[in-house]
Amino acid sequence: MSTVVIVGGHGKVALRLAEALTAGGHTVRSTIRNEAHGADVESAGAEPYLLDVEQSDAQDLAEVFGAADAVVFSAGAGGDGKAERKRTVDLEGSLKSIAGATLAGVSRFVQVSALGVDDPLPADTDPVWRAYVEAKRDADSALRESGLDWTVVRPGRLTDEPGTGMVRIGADIPSGAVPRVDVAAVIVAALGDDATIGAQFALTEGDRPIMEALASLR
Ligand SMILES: NC(=O)c1ccc[n+]([C@@H]2O[C@H](COP(=O)([O-])OP(=O)(O)OC[C@H]3O[C@@H](n4cnc5c(N)ncnc54)[C@H](OP(=O)(O)O)[C@@H]3O)[C@@H](O)[C@H]2O)c1
Repeated sequence: MSTVVIVGGHGKVALRLAEALTAGGHTVRSTIRNEAHGADVESAGAEPYLLDVEQSDAQDLAEVFGAADAVVFSAGAGGDGKAERKRTVDLEGSLKSIAGATLAGVSRFVQVSALGVDDPLPADTDPVWRAYVEAKRDADSALRESGLDWTVVRPGRLTDEPGTGMVRIGADIPSGAVPRVDVAAVIVAALGDDATIGAQFALTEGDRPIMEALASLR
């Protein structure tokens, strides 16, 4: 059994992840930026910890991570239409979390990114979308260079459909949707499988059971 800290702990993937991890006997601490979200986090079985990544530094993150076994970064600025927050949350929140994990000596780090963010963008790309893609791309690059035991999970379009446990995983797969609950299940499986250390993969719904799809990365 292990202790996992989820950054962006009131997110929709994060809540599903907390439920799955705590159901498996793990201890989960979930960072939230709004105290009122604490009840949802507790309902998911996790311990809420108040922290806004835009108002925090790496040392603050290191204190939350403490003696945890793993960090999962699942925060994102969401659909507020502000390009600046893609940088301050999706990118800098990740960079601070990577630095905080390093300071705390927590080597295992899983990042929720997005499918296709290394693909070149057309010149007429919407600026907010460009900021989002570039933030995810640069955060992933920083994590790969961090020296931590990293895994980058790049899901396609997230849905709240029921999970199927059947996915497609790979470096270069067609875009598609994936239920958040299956993203959470893939993260749980990755945390339990050291063969996913140093792996970056796209993820959509598919026709292979999660364990089998992850094993194909080896
Ligand atoms: N939507 C898609 O189709 C899609 C596809 C691929 C990847 N992704 C990415 O997958 C990840 C998880 O998705 P999701 O649906 O779970 O996202 P979500 O529900 O929007 O969760 C993101 C979480 O980040 C938190 N957050 C925002 N600003 C913060 C700050 N300053 N400090 C701390 N936390 C902050 C939000 O807190 P509040 O609850 O307080 O707002 C929210 O709980 C995101 O990074 C997203 O970009 C999304």
